[in-house]
Amino acid sequence: MFECNRLKKVYRERVVLEIESLSLSQGETLALAGANGSGKTTLLRILAGNLKPTEGEVRTASPILYLPQRSYAFRGTVLDNVLLGANDQKEEALRLLVETELLPLKDKKASSLSGGELQRLAFCRLLVRPCKLLLLDEPTSACDAAGARLLLAALERYREKHGCTVVLSTHTPVVATQAAKRLIILHNGRIEADGDPQTILQSPSSDWAKEFIAGWRI
Ligand SMILES: Nc1ncnc2c1ncn2[C@@H]1O[C@H](COP(=O)(O)OP(=O)(O)O)[C@@H](O)[C@H]1O
Ligand SMILES: [Mg+2]
Repeated sequence: MFECNRLKKVYRERVVLEIESLSLSQGETLALAGANGSGKTTLLRILAGNLKPTEGEVRTASPILYLPQRSYAFRGTVLDNVLLGANDQKEEALRLLVETELLPLKDKKASSLSGGELQRLAFCRLLVRPCKLLLLDEPTSACDAAGARLLLAALERYREKHGCTVVLSTHTPVVATQAAKRLIILHNGRIEADGDPQTILQSPSSDWAKEFIAGWRI
């Protein structure tokens, strides 16, 4: 779970995030959408404890796992990389590699992976550990449709196993509707829409939201 009140982040007098109040119960899933620069990463980093808000308070469950927007590889093989997440979890590491179809690559150098493969690897390295709050910043951005489906299925299994709360940002409507029961659209750091993803997509509540969603479908 998490809860935040009167949250504000200001960079050089520019307000990039301003949220009066937002909370999520244990086990809920939330998708964050919004144009580039709308504040998705800022919100996720504040929830992760990586960034201090200028004002406001945040309470979160722990442990937290956070997947940054940019994927990276450590030295060693694909399997070595997953085991960096938890070196006593070899069985779970292999299962995640099977689920994300990376098993045939397990002995390859991690630095030689393609963008989509690397993103799946970063996901496996994170999910080899349990958590109560899972924060994923555009987890499928480098994946093709098949890769995204694999990640969403692995995410669903992880969520059921650990009963964790999930917040993920995405630019892909189908990812939002499949992965989450609630969708928030950010616009210039503020919540522009908040509710059931299908309802928001089908009947946006403002002209701005309507326009955003029309563009989002492309
Ligand atoms: N360290 C920083 N210094 C100044 N401005 C920043 C910094 N980090 C982010 N911003 C600004 O904050 C806004 C929100 O960024 P971000 O949360 O990354 O958006 P999103 O993830 O939705 O694309 C952007 O306008 C961005 O330029
Ligand atoms: Mg971002």
